Amino acid sequence: MKFRLDRLLTELVSTISRKQAKEAIRGGRVRIDGVVVTDPERKTDPEEETVSLDGKGLTYAKFRYYLLNKPAGVLSATRDKKKETVLDLIPGIDHEKFFPVGRLDIDTEGLLLITNDGALAHELLSPKKHVEKEYFALCKGVVTEEMLAPLAEGVDLGDFVTAPATFRIAGSEGENTGIFLTITEGKFHQVKRMVALIGSEILALRRVRMGGLTIPEGLAAGEFTELSSEELTARLHAGKNE
Ligand code: URA
Repeated sequence: MKFRLDRLLTELVSTISRKQAKEAIRGGRVRIDGVVVTDPERKTDPEEETVSLDGKGLTYAKFRYYLLNKPAGVLSATRDKKKETVLDLIPGIDHEKFFPVGRLDIDTEGLLLITNDGALAHELLSPKKHVEKEYFALCKGVVTEEMLAPLAEGVDLGDFVTAPATFRIAGSEGENTGIFLTITEGKFHQVKRMVALIGSEILALRRVRMGGLTIPEGLAAGEFTELSSEELTARLHAGKNE
């Protein structure tokens, strides 16, 4: 498929805007098959020609994967008139093609994948695939193993019965209790509803793992990193049966 060079550059370099791409091309920083091209409208097929910026070859990938450490206060949506969305945190991303894989509540933080790969999203979200989603939840008051025990069996939330979950108490934080809870579904407010059912309340919620994918050390809330399809697949599978 052929693209205009300035448009292609924004696809290849996620952090570059269309304006910056045009400037880079006009400034002689972009080459096609080793030859400087200064016309931003020049058409090119990235599967046939090699585009480089400042001497660095850029690889074209049909599907791209961003691992975002979602901060609280940002909506899991592609666009919104009033509130900042998770896609707004990735400069230059195409809001028509990319989407978050599932939703985290506005006040939930943590691991969120953003991609244009619909098949992968389906795979990760399908309840039949049992991909684990692990959360750290700060729960109000004292929460004990006995209180959590019913979650390991599955509980009736009214509209559905949860699959067995696993949990671990992380420790107390003042008067409250931190727990790790792993579920394989992703129903609306599921973790909050599960914790309410056992007689507590979520004060803060963070997703820490999806399959074998965790938040890389040093990736602060609001920051993202791009993963190749190979890295993503390897890391997702690394978590299976753990
Ligand atoms: N469960 C919830 O209640 N909220 C989330 O954001 C994710 C899981």
